[in-house]
Amino acid sequence: MTISHAKRRAPAGRIAYVDGRYLPHPHAAVHIEDRGLQFADSVYEVFAVTGGALLDEDAHLKRLARSLGELGIAQPLPPAALSFVMREVVRRNRLRDGLIYVQVTRGSYARDHVVPKDARGTVIVTARRLDPAAIEARRSSGVKVKTEPDIRWGRCDIKATALLPNVLAKTEARRAGAYEAWLVDRDGKVTEGTSTNAWIVDSRGRVVTRVLSNNILAGVTRSTLMRAAAAAGLTIEERSFTVEDARQAREAFVTSATGGVIPVVEIDGIRIGDGVPGSTTLRMHALYRDLAQKEARISLGFASQSG
Ligand code: PDD
Repeated sequence: MTISHAKRRAPAGRIAYVDGRYLPHPHAAVHIEDRGLQFADSVYEVFAVTGGALLDEDAHLKRLARSLGELGIAQPLPPAALSFVMREVVRRNRLRDGLIYVQVTRGSYARDHVVPKDARGTVIVTARRLDPAAIEARRSSGVKVKTEPDIRWGRCDIKATALLPNVLAKTEARRAGAYEAWLVDRDGKVTEGTSTNAWIVDSRGRVVTRVLSNNILAGVTRSTLMRAAAAAGLTIEERSFTVEDARQAREAFVTSATGGVIPVVEIDGIRIGDGVPGSTTLRMHALYRDLAQKEARISLGFASQSG
């Protein structure tokens, strides 16, 4: 495989290490299903290289091992082997001054938020030249900084692939025998599921889901369901609800493109309502399915035949 973009930008002769092989940059690639690409399910380190030597190597390797351990990513290369690979990448690139970039992903698997059992990671090692004179110039002049709000990562409204927290929460839920994790904010309110929007039917029969903000994804299924409910004369309340509200709810459900409306019958081991899919939820499913299918047929130009 040739990455034409990288080819244009990479200085001639650059060599990278990917998953056991040393390859010219234009041919160095990970698989499209790599979890680093799809979920940011990976960790990295950057090592400075001066005069061909790696600086602070042990400390970086130690932090890498810690990051891997915290995420439960099995170390694909023991530190001594990784150290060898890094030196080899320095050597093959004839690198004097620059950096070595190491990334370890959880590997390549069919896309699923849940961490695969016995995952085998992917290791990437690349080298980059830096101009010591440019760094010295910056040191002698000093640099400016600008302040920015710390939003790491507070923009859940953007369907970004920064999904590592979602991956960890869903995997934890599955370990505990649950299908989905509902994420709870600092005020004890449910934001959404790791890959679904969260809904309850409260004790008065009102269908409730959180209002749109930076804290949740504006689910397409959520919005189609709201239109379907409105067309059927039902009101949906957009407001936050606590975990306790959810436990006391008559019914609960989740929505997403992958499942439409899916009933929730238990939260943290507590049965919701009668512990079976509720009638309002099933009605929501029917309303959503009918409207989504009708609109899909219209977009194919079959509206007149199918009504
Ligand atoms: N997930 N919230 C989050 C965090 C999501 O990732 C998703 C979708 C939703 C529901 O959005 P929609 O109704 O547009 O599918 C809510 C997809 C299905 C996924 O990551 O697999």
